[in-house]
Amino acid sequence: MRDAAAALAAEFAADVRRDLALTPKQLQSKYLYDQLGSSLFEAICRLPWYHITRAESRLLARHAAEIVEEFGGGTIVELGCGSGEKIVMLAEALQSRGGTARVHLIDISSQALEQTEERLTRLEHVSVVGHQSTYEEGLRRAAAARTTEDPVLVLLLGSNIGNFDTPAALDFLDRIRRTLRPGDLLLLGADLTKPEADLILAYDDPLGVTAAFNKNLLVRMNRELGADFELTRFAHRAAWTASEQRIEMHLVSLAVQRVTIAPSGVIVNFDAGEHIWTESSYKYDPEELQDMGATAGFMTLKQWIDPEAAFALTVFLA
Ligand code: AVI
Repeated sequence: MRDAAAALAAEFAADVRRDLALTPKQLQSKYLYDQLGSSLFEAICRLPWYHITRAESRLLARHAAEIVEEFGGGTIVELGCGSGEKIVMLAEALQSRGGTARVHLIDISSQALEQTEERLTRLEHVSVVGHQSTYEEGLRRAAAARTTEDPVLVLLLGSNIGNFDTPAALDFLDRIRRTLRPGDLLLLGADLTKPEADLILAYDDPLGVTAAFNKNLLVRMNRELGADFELTRFAHRAAWTASEQRIEMHLVSLAVQRVTIAPSGVIVNFDAGEHIWTESSYKYDPEELQDMGATAGFMTLKQWIDPEAAFALTVFLA
């Protein structure tokens, strides 16, 4: 466990060093989720301007019975478990139908894993294994642990697919499909394209929670890597790039400045107005999601849309 933590820390340092040398400067969005970042993300999910979580819960509440009917029980692999509310909804629907499940939770955040495991332990018909890892590594481990012919249901919820750029999303769907057998299922929750003003409110909320979530990445680099980012000299910005159908989060340097990451001797120079690109959230149309699934070799079984928030839940068959 300690080795795994040390490996993740070394990977973080190497990724930061590499990605801050790119033009434009970048940081991978998976690094937003340390303990505080995970708590701030949970707070975002409760904001009145961020609709993804509530829309997905509404769809799951309405259709969980149908989903578990299709699945029947077996192995559930959740890629990015968040605080665990959604898998609990499915597990409870499975319980009502007398099914059982072995659950593999995969998340980069130890806090997310702990919370979800805690929520699931009171359900006797499920056993749980947590993997603190990237989706790819976790998927590989869950596939290696598969011992029975029982079906697998993969959950990729919360519009986590939106944080991949489109070729990477296709590649990831393809990789998921290749770990599955015919008859297995993928449940994909994805946010849909909507007016720019709604997206800006969702990603630059008036309470400043998303700004804190984004700027916490600077706090994390200061604490974990010995960097000296001055928080007041950076601002959060959300920007919609219509041609790519994505909302981007940036950290904008408010001055010409130099930041050092002392132990590794890295020096990073910023111009005033220069930004670090910290996240992309791609938005799709319902048919695009079906096409992406088909490109990866899936068949669409069902697709439900929440019209209020413009959000889609799609069941794919491998
Ligand atoms: C986790 N992910 C799907 C969120 C999103 O909407 O892209 C992360 C987030 N970033 C800002 N607000 C929420």
